[in-house]
Amino acid sequence: MKTLLVLASFLLLAAALPTPKSFLHGAQVFRVVPKTEGQIHYLSGLIKSDHYDFWTEPRAIGKPVDIMAKAFHIPQLKSTLLKLGLKYEILVSNVAQQVEALHMANEKARAKGTKAMDWTSYHTYDEITEWLDSLATDYPSLCTVEDVGTSYEGRTMKLLKLGTGPATNPGIFIDGGIHAREWISPATVTYIINEFVQNSDTYADILAGVNFYIMPSINPDGYAYTWSNDRLWRKTRSETGTPGCRGADPNRNWGFHWMEAGASSNPCSDIFAGSVEFSEVEMQNVRDQILKYQDTLVAYLTFHSYSQLWMYPWGYTTDLPSDWQELDSLAQDAVSALTGVHGTSYDIGSSTNILYAAAGGSDDWAKGVGNVKYSYTIELRDTGFWGFQLPPEQIIPTGEETFEALKVVANFFLTPRKE
Ligand code: ARG
Ligand code: ZN
Repeated sequence: MKTLLVLASFLLLAAALPTPKSFLHGAQVFRVVPKTEGQIHYLSGLIKSDHYDFWTEPRAIGKPVDIMAKAFHIPQLKSTLLKLGLKYEILVSNVAQQVEALHMANEKARAKGTKAMDWTSYHTYDEITEWLDSLATDYPSLCTVEDVGTSYEGRTMKLLKLGTGPATNPGIFIDGGIHAREWISPATVTYIINEFVQNSDTYADILAGVNFYIMPSINPDGYAYTWSNDRLWRKTRSETGTPGCRGADPNRNWGFHWMEAGASSNPCSDIFAGSVEFSEVEMQNVRDQILKYQDTLVAYLTFHSYSQLWMYPWGYTTDLPSDWQELDSLAQDAVSALTGVHGTSYDIGSSTNILYAAAGGSDDWAKGVGNVKYSYTIELRDTGFWGFQLPPEQIIPTGEETFEALKVVANFFLTPRKE
């Protein structure tokens, strides 16, 4: 009887699960560690073949590369790796199952949550935007919220202004969620906002001395799609003209050396740069906000995951900006504060030198066109154990350490310094 009951409840539970998307059935993630420049070069070429989903990009000798292959493409990937002399390790043996398990973990954490917004689970786009609106009502002396446009599918995009000083104060622009599947990004950006508004007395100096312009989720359609259809979706959701292939990579879409490196003109590619620069309305909206506050902006921070990297321009060339040492030195200080919290280690450098050249990124545009001196792309936790599907228990620790790094950046613009 007891076994029957257990069996019955198990079957009920199984029936309640949403069916994992068929295209992820049998998909696996392979980890390879390149040992030669040639292997790195070849792997970078493989990104463009569009058969595989590179969860991380080839970086350098000794740095792991994580590649997801759908069931159908696995034999081909294995033989390619063999030909290249690359040994692989299977990082995720069943992607559909992993997606399902993490989905359940988040649902469980959500059910336990008592507030409309918290950092013990991940939240939907609508929950995030409603929460932003509530902040403007609850903390009118600290922040305002503005509608700054609509996404391709008609979702309202919002910008939160945070600060108690004059509009002429140095400005720090922060965005998250440009890549849809990188859920820890919007979660961390909202954590940062919450930390400031809940403890505004503690951070009175910062709030009086700099203004923050924050957009936690700048790819709303893609993010919604990761909740409804495909947890591992990266791009926007615009129509491309090619049936079955939607969306552009929003971080290849910015109009500075657009399409010069590491981007694809194939609409089916995960790194499709868009039909023209700024083809994606969401990126137009973010660009226009950066331009609006351009005169005061001293820093631009855009949050991604995963790999634990703190990067600065350029991403389109191996050349460094003339002031790279200043960007590097602030990054070093920010990262050492971050590491001080939970011991999480980060690599620092220009994105082309740390990763591989990829043009059309928001960081390059912010510096090259927007003239924002301290432009950074930050790849949050982890280094691949969970990857994009970082368990909800890690939201708070990630928020805590990232907040310490952000404080270093903000304080840098408060303290008088030698020019
Ligand atoms: N992983 C990020 C991406 O592919 C890194 C972006 C770095 N910046 C750049 N301009 N390439 O979008
Ligand atoms: Zn990303």
